[in-house]
Amino acid sequence: MLIKRQPILTVILSLLLFSCVYYNQFQEQYSADLKNILYSAEAAAASLPIKFQNEDSPGNTRVINYTNATFFIEVSGRPDLSFRQICAVEAALSAHSGNPVIVYMTGYNGTSSHWMKASENLYIKKLNLDELFLNTHLEKVYRAKNFRTKPPVEHIADLSRIALLKKHGGLYLDIDMILMKSALDLGSFMLKNQGNGVLRFDKNSPLLAKIYQLLGNVKYNRGDYTLLGAKIIKKAVKELCYFNDSVSSIKKAGEICGINFVDNDLFSPVPWFEFKKLFTKNIDLNKFRTKITKKAVAFHFAGHMTKNIPVFKNASSLFNTVARKYCPVIYQSFPDVY
Ligand SMILES: *[C@@H]1O[C@H](CO)[C@@H](O)[C@H](O)[C@H]1NC(C)=O
Ligand SMILES: *[C@@H]1O[C@H](CO)[C@@H](O)[C@H](O)[C@H]1NC(C)=O
Ligand SMILES: *[C@@H]1O[C@H](CO)[C@@H](O)[C@H](O)[C@H]1NC(C)=O
Ligand SMILES: *[C@@H]1O[C@H](CO)[C@@H](O)[C@H](O)[C@H]1NC(C)=O
Ligand SMILES: *[C@@H]1O[C@H](CO)[C@@H](O)[C@H](O)[C@H]1NC(C)=O
Repeated sequence: MLIKRQPILTVILSLLLFSCVYYNQFQEQYSADLKNILYSAEAAAASLPIKFQNEDSPGNTRVINYTNATFFIEVSGRPDLSFRQICAVEAALSAHSGNPVIVYMTGYNGTSSHWMKASENLYIKKLNLDELFLNTHLEKVYRAKNFRTKPPVEHIADLSRIALLKKHGGLYLDIDMILMKSALDLGSFMLKNQGNGVLRFDKNSPLLAKIYQLLGNVKYNRGDYTLLGAKIIKKAVKELCYFNDSVSSIKKAGEICGINFVDNDLFSPVPWFEFKKLFTKNIDLNKFRTKITKKAVAFHFAGHMTKNIPVFKNASSLFNTVARKYCPVIYQSFPDVY
């Protein structure tokens, strides 16, 4: 019996060995692709002339071409990003390889994780809100009673992204979007649901100008969660792109005001009521897997809803699968539970 079983054992062992080698090769290939994007922390710290200054200050040596730039905002006031957020940044550097990726942080103090300085296309910038809003059309909202004293972070984030787009143009992404492919060939775009989690505008876009104008004139209400986000954008689309009963198609509305409205699924392939499952193991993920690998541009993990769910690195969760593939460098340094 033992003798007869040996060939089977050999086959199984060879298969195992083969998969290991194959897996390692896959990993190596992946790391090789990222070689040009991410250097080791020490090399980067030693060799890159990175200055963390406000971009318009005269001493700033790095000039950003915003045409294909991607930017994120972190306005909680923390000086560093979470592992999951850094994953989103690495994925953007990878999907938009060769183009600038900018992270604006209100709490940045110049000592964030070394690895974050490790790409020559990565720019981490202190976001100074006074500088961004004072003496602009948005100053009235910024100075409004209840905004200056204790605005919800969502409102600061809503206002900041529009101010930054107006200043420079570019692609704004919520920092819980893991890019899986390039979004740069979508032109100027936003999602069909007219939310503000994904927005790409040229700084001279008429629709952006409309949003900016409406935002500056808004009557600030601290308790209205979507006031400075989806509500303003929907209003602008309605007014400028005539998205009304007679122009019933969003595609047509897009043509009128020069923007592509893309399927929500492209950036949020998993519906919100399933978000929590992204992080847990042993659930049937196949329906999402196909959608994600075939179609989606980004993987939205809804950070605000899921930030308190611990993720076990050894679980076969969808988030782990995506992170392993799209932010392989930072994923390696994720702790066992993150
Ligand atoms: C950015 O690059 C584009 C294409 O190369 C160019 O037309 C544009 O002038 C550049 N913008 C700046 C500010 O350098
Ligand atoms: C910046 O923040 C980090 C993390 O909280 C802290 O360790 C460091 O001392 C801070 N540095 C400065 C200059 O405030
Ligand atoms: C921006 O990206 C598009 C699409 O990938 C590309 O065709 C174009 O040359 C890029 N422009 C710049 C300035 O990098
Ligand atoms: C709807 O949009 C069209 C432009 O296509 C405009 O002529 C019409 O007045 C609009 N209707 C309303 C009710 O706003
Ligand atoms: C996964 O990791 C957690 C935390 O480190 C540990 O408690 C658990 O036993 C591990 N599960 C497996 C299947 O290895």
